[in-house]
Parts: sequence; C-alpha cells; structure tokens
Amino acid sequence: MSELILGFESSCDETGVALVRAGGGAALPQLLAHALHSQIEMHQAYGGVVPELASRDHIRRVLPLTEAVLAQAGVALAEVDVVAYTRGPGLAGALLVGAGVACALAAALDRPVIGVHHLEGHLLSPFLSADPPEFPFVALLVSGGHTQLMRVDGVGRYELLGETIDDAAGEAFDKSAKLLGLGYPGGPALSRLAEQGEPAAFKLPRPLLHSGDLDFSFAGLKTAVLTQARKLGDDLPGRSADLAASTQAAIVDVLVRKTLAALAATGLTRVVVAGGVGANRRLRAQLDAACAERGVRVHYPELHLCTDNGAMIAMAAAMRLQAGLEQPRRDYAFDVKPRWPLEEVGAAGVTPGG
Ligand code: KG4
Ligand code: ZN
Repeated sequence: MSELILGFESSCDETGVALVRAGGGAALPQLLAHALHSQIEMHQAYGGVVPELASRDHIRRVLPLTEAVLAQAGVALAEVDVVAYTRGPGLAGALLVGAGVACALAAALDRPVIGVHHLEGHLLSPFLSADPPEFPFVALLVSGGHTQLMRVDGVGRYELLGETIDDAAGEAFDKSAKLLGLGYPGGPALSRLAEQGEPAAFKLPRPLLHSGDLDFSFAGLKTAVLTQARKLGDDLPGRSADLAASTQAAIVDVLVRKTLAALAATGLTRVVVAGGVGANRRLRAQLDAACAERGVRVHYPELHLCTDNGAMIAMAAAMRLQAGLEQPRRDYAFDVKPRWPLEEVGAAGVTPGG
C-alpha cells in the first residue's frame, strides 16, 4: 500500500497544505512537500487574530498553496488518494474554509476525506522529524489555546493526565507580551526580549506547582506581570527584558516540573513536546537538561513544524489510516468542531458529520 494524502490546515492564522506518502506496513509516512502562509503580518495591525479576516485570507491562499505543493512534489491532483483537513478545534469560519475546499476536491476526484483533530496533528508531528519517537510517551501539548499533558499509548490512544484550568501557556506568553508592549504573536517576541534579561530578576508566581495533580493555571501570572509592570512605572522600559525573562522562566518552570511529575506518575521514560510553545528555546533547554538527568528521551517536531502547518494534518491522517482507525468515506457533507476534546478522537473513525 502506498497512498498519497493531501492535507489542509486552516484552524487559525496559518494556511497550510502538504502532501504525505503513507507507506505499507509499519514504515512511517513520508512528507513529500508542504507550503505555508502565515497571516501574522495581516493581523499585526490589530494586535491579535481577527477571525473574519483570517477566513477570507485562507480562501485567498489555499488553492495557490495547493498548486505549489503538487508542483513541488511533481504529483498531479488526480494522483491524490485521500484528502485530509483540520476539522477542529479552532475558529469556526477559518476551519470551514479548509473543510469546504478539502471536501469539494475530494468530491471532484471521487476520493475519501478524513477530518483530523488539530491537536492530534501537533501530537504526531514529531514523527516527521529525523528522530521520531516510539510509543508509549508522555505528551506535553502547548499551543495558543491548549496546555495539556497526555499519556499516549499509540495512534488514537490518548489519555488526558492534566490540563490548564484557565489560560494556555501560549496565551500566557501572548498576554504578558501585550502588557509589555510587544507585538503579536507574543511568544516569539517575549522570548527574544527575554534573552537579554535576567530570569531571576522578579519573583513571579508558579501557579499549581504543588497542587499534587497535573493541572496548570496561568491566568494569575499575567496579573502578577501587570502588577509588576505598574510598580515599575517609568522604569519599565529599562527593565522590560528582566520582566520578560522572569515571565518566561515562570511559565517554563511550571511546564517542566509538571512534565516531570507526569513521567513519575506514569513511569514512562519518553516525552514528546508539541505545539507552538514547543519552539521556545528555554523550554527546550530546561526540559532537555531535566530529562537527561533522569535518563528520559525528549522528542520535538522540527522547529518549522512546531507551529501550525499542513504537514502535521496530512501526517495524522496517514497514521490514522495506517493504524486502521479510518474508514474510507465518500460522504462529502461536512461540519467543523470549533471545540473538540482530543480524548474524543479515540480509536473510532473521525467522520465529518459523524
Ligand atoms: O500551535 P500554535 O502555532 O497555534 C495554536 O494551535 O494555538 O501555537 C501558537 C502559540 C502562540 O501563543 C505563540 O505565542 C506561541 O505558540 N509561540 C511561542 C513561541 N513560538 C510560538 N511561545 C513561546 N516561545 C516561542 N518561541
Ligand atoms: Zn496549533
């Protein structure tokens, strides 16, 4: 079996398209080509993602990106065997663009479609790296909307161990960055500024660090950052790098320590980090150091596949197909799931409308 899978990602502010070849047997699917358009510049003027503008831009970008991917791979559209798209979670209007295009293409080609869970895409994206993980592992999913620790025993076998009870880690980065007058997206901007600052300069809270469970809470941190910024008053510009470094240190500290607690609770010796915050250099350095001490392997997606992209969606579809979790489906009525817990994906086939 060797199937070509075309995948679409349009859940937020990135339009991603990719082509993956699913091999036979246990061989991992291979990425043949992928293309991405980030809307960051467009949303920058508004300080955050404007959903309606996001949807309209996905419409503009998706077909030219698809043509680019097919050309790059030297594959004709008619050769595509399966079409995959992000079904959720995400912005409803943005998701509908990818779902609509994917289902229309699949209908025109008379090929099956697969609706993929965005977080499952992030979760499986390290399998596209040069050093892919093996099951089982603890997954730390850290994106703009989610912060979760999961036990992953295989494709479709996800057990939630803990999650944020309020803001996500990416949100904590983004909101703190906004308070410091940095642009959107705040994560990369804050971590760049933090490189010139002192992580121990300000004492910021590490919420739920000793809660005894694997949940997170980041809402209080942004209040603490705001209080500190107000206290500094006119001195803020001169100390903003220190405050950025201390904020990043607090977020990373909690993420690392809770991940270690998840390893201890499960007895597993492998970690996969996925989602946009997984690009954070301090998180990588601290987690690598803590895990090396404990003989634990840490796997990351390639840096350019940490944030949203089409490759992870095509990859997740390919791995679900290979695992026998998807029934080829040619019913092109579609829906999207703006809110969709990952545990619901499970081993049952994810079928649009189902
Ligand atoms: O996974 P992702 O691209 O989109 C969602 O599915 O949400 O994650 C985006 C999040 C944003 O909050 C962004 O600020 C954060 O990831 N992010 C970072 C870094 N790069 C992206 N946070 C900290 N450090 C980074 N280098
Ligand atoms: Zn994402």
